[in-house]
Amino acid sequence: MITRRRFSKTALGFGLATIWAAPRRGAAQVRERILVAGATGRTGRFVVSDLIKSGHAVRGLTRNPDKAREKYGDAVEWVSGDVRDRSSLVPIYQGVDRVISVLGATQRTGDNTPEEVEFRGNVNLIDQARIDGVRQVVMITSLSAGRVDIDPTLATRFTGMVWKNKAEHYLRESRVPYTIVGPGGLRDYEPNLQGIWFQSEDQIKVGTIARADVGAVMAEAVRNRSALNKTLRIINDPDLPVDGWKEAMANVPVDA
Ligand SMILES: NC(=O)c1ccc[n+]([C@@H]2O[C@H](COP(=O)([O-])OP(=O)(O)OC[C@H]3O[C@@H](n4cnc5c(N)ncnc54)[C@H](OP(=O)(O)O)[C@@H]3O)[C@@H](O)[C@H]2O)c1
Repeated sequence: MITRRRFSKTALGFGLATIWAAPRRGAAQVRERILVAGATGRTGRFVVSDLIKSGHAVRGLTRNPDKAREKYGDAVEWVSGDVRDRSSLVPIYQGVDRVISVLGATQRTGDNTPEEVEFRGNVNLIDQARIDGVRQVVMITSLSAGRVDIDPTLATRFTGMVWKNKAEHYLRESRVPYTIVGPGGLRDYEPNLQGIWFQSEDQIKVGTIARADVGAVMAEAVRNRSALNKTLRIINDPDLPVDGWKEAMANVPVDA
């Protein structure tokens, strides 16, 4: 049986209209609640719109819920928190099934740097996920974050790469089921114009990818069990079929 839900168009700017959810015949509909850290960000917004379209309950973590509500509307349950302060995460994890981190540091120096946000902030999200028995953490890093282990000069050439690399190691060793998404250079072009190339860790080729496509992969990672315990290094590729990426994602090997 197909359940049809109608939502009014909101200030989200996502053009939400009709949401379809297809529960198993005779089964109660399971609507997982996803906590999105970085939900107000330029990539996070696409994660949120994709999850809402697939019928998930989305809780958006932001340092300024009033501003988020005013800008993006109330299809998201906006909650106040700062990933640098673990105690602010405790109440907002209540009832959360999975966590997606699309965090980005807003300062290169000062107190909201890649070290504080993309490493220590993600560590706080992961630790709280383990304590609360969250089913999965999906975390954005970067295409080249794994290369820091092989080429340490990357750490000095790209600000923040070393902290993304450390966050990846921490998540893999946390025993929390996970998916790491490492995109190439983020671009604001239209989604679904090109295919998505899932690269193998030892043969990284630099490239770019639409933020919307990254959002689609991160949202799919919570819906599709084939994404569990994988690192997905992604760029757009015009030579690949636009609709072939879910199958490609399923074929990426699980991390060693
Ligand atoms: N630029 C590239 O080419 C590229 C390539 C690969 C990977 N990446 C990575 O992709 C990620 C996403 O990038 P983006 O451009 O979409 O990010 P963005 O637009 O700058 O968004 C950053 C998000 O992080 C949140 N945030 C920052 N500090 C926080 C804190 N202390 N506590 C809670 N939330 C905090 C912000 O939320 P509030 O302000 O609402 O609190 C905002 O939603 C980044 O890690 C970036 O390094 C970028």
